Formats: sequence, C-alpha cells, structure tokens
Amino acid sequence: MADKKYLTSTYDIETSDEIRDHYNEWSESYDRELEEHGYVTPQRCAQALKSVGTPPNSLILDFGCGTGVSGAAFHHEGFTNLIGCDVSSEMLRLATDKGLYQQTFIIEPGAKVEGKYDVVAAVGVIGVGAAPPEAFDIVMQILNPGGRFVFSYNDKALSDPRFTKKLTEHIKKGASLIFEEHGDHIPGIGLFSTVYVLQAPA
Ligand SMILES: C[S@@+](CC[C@H](N)C(=O)[O-])C[C@H]1O[C@@H](n2cnc3c(N)ncnc32)[C@H](O)[C@@H]1O
Repeated sequence: MADKKYLTSTYDIETSDEIRDHYNEWSESYDRELEEHGYVTPQRCAQALKSVGTPPNSLILDFGCGTGVSGAAFHHEGFTNLIGCDVSSEMLRLATDKGLYQQTFIIEPGAKVEGKYDVVAAVGVIGVGAAPPEAFDIVMQILNPGGRFVFSYNDKALSDPRFTKKLTEHIKKGASLIFEEHGDHIPGIGLFSTVYVLQAPA
C-alpha cells in the first residue's frame, strides 16, 4: 500500500508557496498514491463532459493538470485536443513527459491566463489545499462564448461557503449549470466530490 503522507496532508496547507512546494515534492509518488486509493474524479469529469454532448475536437485547457492523470481520463473519453497548465513545475514536467498534451505551460498562482478555450477543466484543483475560489474567475474569463467549465469540488470544498458562493455568483451572472453529480472522489480515504459542468453565456 502506498504511503498516504501527501494525500492526507494536502488539505492542511494554505499559502500558494506552500501549495506549490507540496505538489513539487509529491509529484514522483502522486500517480501511485492516488491510484492505490482509487481516485475516480478524473474519469467522472471526462464522462460528464461527454454526456452533455461536448464535441470531441473541442480545445480543452486542463487547468491544474498536475501529472496528467486528468488528461489521461479526457483522452480515454475521446477528448485529445488538450493543453495543460499548472503552478508546479515538477507536476507539469511529468504531465509533459506523458505526451498527452499538445502543449503545456507553467502559471503563477492567481495570475491571469492567456488564450480562449472551448472547455476548461479543473479536476481536483479548486478547493482546500489547492487553488483558491478566485481561480474560478480566472477560468471563466478564458472560456469562449458558450464554452464549458468542467470541475469538481470535493466534500471539503463543498463545506466551505467561499467555494460554493463562487459557483452561485457565476450562475447569477448568466452561466448555466448543465451537469451536477455527487459521487466517489477518493474512496480509499472516504472522500466524495461533486462534478459540475457549467456553461458560459453564449
Ligand atoms: C490534486 S492535484 C490535481 C491534478 C490533476 N488535475 C488530477 O486530476 O490529477 C491539484 C493540482 O492543482 C495545482 N494547483 C494548485 N494551486 C493552483 C492554482 N492556484 N492554480 C492552478 N493550479 C493549481 C497543483 O499544483 C496540482 O497539480
């Protein structure tokens, strides 16, 4: 059984520097640890995106792509037009090496991201111990009109009103929630998540 040192400590870190250091250190054992504990949210997000009729050739930014576990799930569901970005250079290096992304680039926590995308994915990215609620605003700014944001909030994010308020705020501004489903996140540590697909105004 893989160590779950990083997996369990991940929800206790707060500043963006601590978060980046944490993922840089975790990168080498991340895939093994998550696989052993049954991380299923990437597959659930990819299936959700497909279930709402998203064209397979959509240009997708995997925001917080990590080592590419989420990219592999999108590939599996036929979404291969993928670009990845992350704040952790070590996580991103492993994602790049997998050859799943047409391009990868590093981002600064909280900084504006360039480009426009049909879909942005943030799988296991926005929440306690990872990207703050403001990352939601960064993502919504880079969606094409009518573009889709597929993301997950685990139960720790769901119980923190800062995260749920962000979603409500964007719905009030005109985005439509077209998919929402609560289910397993990391069954090995008894954690669940809700997967959402939010569509930007046309
Ligand atoms: C739990 S991992 C998820 C990685 C990948 N999406 C997956 O499903 O395996 C969270 C990722 O979010 C990244 N991250 C943390 N803070 C971020 C921020 N402010 N903006 C973008 N990504 C961030 C981390 O570096 C890490 O790679």
